[in-house]
Amino acid sequence: MVASGTLSDLGQGITVGDNVGISEYAYIGGAGGVRIGSDTIVGQYFSTHSENHVFSDPDNLIREQGVTRTGIEVGPDCWIGAKVTLLDGVTLGRGCVVAAGSVVNQSFPDYAIIAGVPARLLRMRDMSAASAEPTLPEDSND
Ligand SMILES: CC(C)(COP(=O)(O)OP(=O)(O)OC[C@H]1O[C@@H](n2cnc3c(N)ncnc32)[C@H](O)[C@@H]1OP(=O)(O)O)[C@@H](O)C(=O)NCCC(=O)NCCS
Repeated sequence: MVASGTLSDLGQGITVGDNVGISEYAYIGGAGGVRIGSDTIVGQYFSTHSENHVFSDPDNLIREQGVTRTGIEVGPDCWIGAKVTLLDGVTLGRGCVVAAGSVVNQSFPDYAIIAGVPARLLRMRDMSAASAEPTLPEDSND
């Protein structure tokens, strides 16, 4: 886990809820903040990248153009398959399933089953239980 990319610009950090399982070889970059809700389980080679480099000016070096940070949130009771990558700004709601190898670059609501590069909605686990807005982790129990 890496809470910050540089000592001169401390990151937001990483918050992991109770009973979360993260398998081998994960890289969790917490510069923009990463929150993982309780009881979520994660396969091998998981990575999060909660920061993007600015590249708008082609006349200057990318490494000197700074970064943007929004943060990544994963709801409780999710199953994230092996080799999943979550990019900055993504929120996954409660009870989501993320297929192996997915690169997630947009947010999905509670109980979404998603797959692919970029990740797309396969279906909902239970349409009657799904809400339009993701249920974010509780501060006290995430
Ligand atoms: C997503 C998953 C759970 C299967 O869910 P499912 O609802 O049974 O899905 P299906 O097998 O019926 O496939 C549904 C569709 O999703 C696609 N799909 C399934 N897994 C996919 C993946 N990893 N990437 C891209 N597409 C995938 C299928 O090709 C199918 O597409 P189609 O409708 O166009 O034919 C499973 O494929 C998966 O990725 N499991 C993760 C396993 C893993 O990582 N284990 C180790 C860590 S715990």
